[in-house]
Amino acid sequence: MLGYVSLLLLLNLSVTGGSKRCPYHCLCYESSDLVDCHSKGFTQVPHGLPHGTWLLDLGGNNLGALQRSTFAGLWSLRILVLSSSGIQLLQPQALSSLSFLEKLDLSHNELRRLPPDFSHSLSSLRELRLDNNYLEHLDLPSLERLESLEKLDLSHNRIETVELGAFRGLSRLRHLYLQGNQLAAVREGMLTMLLGLEVLLLGHNNISTIETEALMSLHSLSLLSLEGNQLKHLKFKTFLNLHTPGTHLLLSGNPWDCDCDLHRVFSKLLSVRHLHVDDYRNVTCYEPAQLAGASLAWVDSQLCVAETATVLVITLTVLVTVVAAIFMAERNRKKNQGKVGTRSESELDLQEK
Ligand SMILES: *[C@@H]1O[C@H](CO)[C@@H](O)[C@H](O)[C@H]1NC(C)=O
Ligand SMILES: *[C@@H]1O[C@H](CO)[C@@H](O)[C@H](O)[C@H]1NC(C)=O
Repeated sequence: MLGYVSLLLLLNLSVTGGSKRCPYHCLCYESSDLVDCHSKGFTQVPHGLPHGTWLLDLGGNNLGALQRSTFAGLWSLRILVLSSSGIQLLQPQALSSLSFLEKLDLSHNELRRLPPDFSHSLSSLRELRLDNNYLEHLDLPSLERLESLEKLDLSHNRIETVELGAFRGLSRLRHLYLQGNQLAAVREGMLTMLLGLEVLLLGHNNISTIETEALMSLHSLSLLSLEGNQLKHLKFKTFLNLHTPGTHLLLSGNPWDCDCDLHRVFSKLLSVRHLHVDDYRNVTCYEPAQLAGASLAWVDSQLCVAETATVLVITLTVLVTVVAAIFMAERNRKKNQGKVGTRSESELDLQEK
């Protein structure tokens, strides 16, 4: 919005004074077909948009619902800004005829769901912003035709569930932002096919489970953020399944249960060359109560002390038992030998008599 406007000003383009068709209230910039209808109080998409429009900024209006074929005929449109425009609903085919669109900004609206045909004509789209809406679920068909998409921002919605396979059509995706939602688990199958994914932001969700195979297909992942979730434990194998040249992890702000197991998982994570826990100093314990708030980095060498002590006690007990058993056996043997001796003495006595 502002970015686009200042870009226009920087380019110092001249405004057409009606020599070309331009919707009332909007500003149209000659030669490049940039149409600025930002914050003009529109309650529907204005009529009379120039057919050659390349960039259309309709942000900051109050559009409510986008009707079917709203942008019909705008074949040249490459960038469409619809942010902060009070959009609650996309009617079926609302975005049809945008087959050449490369950037779509629908952030800061009131969308609760995406229509099943949302992606049908968006096969050229490279960047999609849907952050700061009210989306709750991602269904399988909604995103499936976004085959050129490189960047998808779904942050700060209310997403609780992602249908398995919802991202499977996104074979070019490099950045996926899902932070600030309500996801409870990262499930196996949720991220398959995202072979080129480089950045996956999952911070500030409600994630308590990451299934062991969930990250397996992410061969290019360089940043995985999981800070501010509900993780208490991790399995080392989950991260060992990340076959990447190098991945940075963010893991602080979780209610870690600091026990010997967790210590072992983190020391393995820290020793694997291609994994980097960038915020390890900020990883703090939540349980047990006596360690609450303590940095894992400070306490981790003591976490296995109790366990070592237990092992020592068991070893000692076994040792003492064994020694005692040997001692007893030896004593019994000697006693029996003594008995044999006594008996033979009395036998001798008898014989003498
Ligand atoms: C977070 O997940 C737990 C289950 O793991 C659930 O009981 C809780 O309601 C969830 N919280 C939110 C805010 O979604
Ligand atoms: C650690 O926490 C402090 C204070 O909350 C913050 O300023 C710092 O950026 C954090 N460091 C990392 C690496 O996250």
